[in-house]
Amino acid sequence: MPTRAPFLRTKFGGYFHREVPAEDAELTHVGPGTPCGEYMRRFWQPVCFSDELKDLPHRIKMLGEELVVFRDKSGAVGLLELHCPHRGTSLEFGLIDERGIRCCYHGWLFAADGTILETPGEPAQSTLKDRLCHGAYPTHEAHGIVFAYLGPPDRLPPLPVYDSFVRPGYRAIPGQTYFYPCNWLQIMENAMDPAHTAFLHTIVSGAVFTEEFGVLPELDFAETPIGMIYIATRRVGENVWARMVEAVLPNLQQVAPIWENGQRAHPFSGPMMSRWIVPIDDTNTMLLELRHVSEMDGVTPPWWADRSMVPGQIAAASYEAGQRRPGDYEAQMSQRPIAIHALEHLGATDRGVSMFRRQTRRGIRAACAGSDPAGLCRDAGAVIATYCNDTVVPVAPAPTEALDKELMRRTGRDLAEGYVRHPPLGDARVEAARDRAEALV
Ligand code: FES
Ligand SMILES: [Fe+2]
Repeated sequence: MPTRAPFLRTKFGGYFHREVPAEDAELTHVGPGTPCGEYMRRFWQPVCFSDELKDLPHRIKMLGEELVVFRDKSGAVGLLELHCPHRGTSLEFGLIDERGIRCCYHGWLFAADGTILETPGEPAQSTLKDRLCHGAYPTHEAHGIVFAYLGPPDRLPPLPVYDSFVRPGYRAIPGQTYFYPCNWLQIMENAMDPAHTAFLHTIVSGAVFTEEFGVLPELDFAETPIGMIYIATRRVGENVWARMVEAVLPNLQQVAPIWENGQRAHPFSGPMMSRWIVPIDDTNTMLLELRHVSEMDGVTPPWWADRSMVPGQIAAASYEAGQRRPGDYEAQMSQRPIAIHALEHLGATDRGVSMFRRQTRRGIRAACAGSDPAGLCRDAGAVIATYCNDTVVPVAPAPTEALDKELMRRTGRDLAEGYVRHPPLGDARVEAARDRAEALV
């Protein structure tokens, strides 16, 4: 880890900050051959939504690699290296064929798995195409999302099925994509930093979510078998509202409903969305949402099902508008293209950030040592339990504010520990979930 900047104890001491330390490369660099890049490549990653693949190929970048994604006329999805192995022309200008994609320059034809099917112009007896393959990655479509595996072929895991994706009474539908000009880690950390919802989203920018989000919550954090959750507990009248937002290793977040206000008691709600924080390269990141929409009226607001944007997730309309009403976008991308941890001063509310960094570093080191990192599931039939939710329970206030805070914390902690012991989605309804999961794979 890079050396920390000095802890300034001097007024007007800017001069003593002479050097800007380097970023933590182990956690933030994602290109081929980097430790974190290798870690990310052990997991299936989303590439785009299925309905984006029409009659033209898409040029994309993922984990620092230039790639082309397309659907051929037989319906197969290909994810190939961008540059043709003949003389390097980009396949974004290729012609989509019955089977594969054809380079526009001299017509070489590539199947989705990288097989070179034709090399027109080469002599008939040429064996080049039988000896050479183009670089390709396996893909899989589920829930309207194209996933790809960019890791070592002999370690290909099954596509994971989380209980929230196959929840009875809910549809999992494609949402939006958002693009951030900064490193993936600061976007993941944002979700493990609940203090910001009370400040940035309420006090600075007016109530972006519900008014009740403006109360500074009692905070706690807990590791789960697949990552971690924060537990933010607030008092709303006679109720205690516990909100748990989840980081699923390595780069999936599950967010509890932002329309919750804690007024009405209810059990475990499950997440409103799951979203992947996909590194494009070291300084650009794509968020891709899978939204969870209830099949019952009045549970999920209509705007959620029609793919409207989540407030505050894209750049403000102008620089000035961003200064006057900053959102997640302004807060995160302005931490620098890659936030420098050696310049930070983490406080009590940042325990979630530290916990997530520790888990990530453990995963990176496990992957680099040749083991499976935590969160990777090799059981093809498994429905993996997850823990994101809002729960609102009636709990009379304690006599003093300090005791009530203690009571809130304990309530949140007890709920969370109970959920980790008996996952509400992955346990009681696991059979139904498993049936639906089987129908998907
Ligand atoms: S450069 Fe692609 S076929 Fe020649
Ligand atoms: Fe936020």
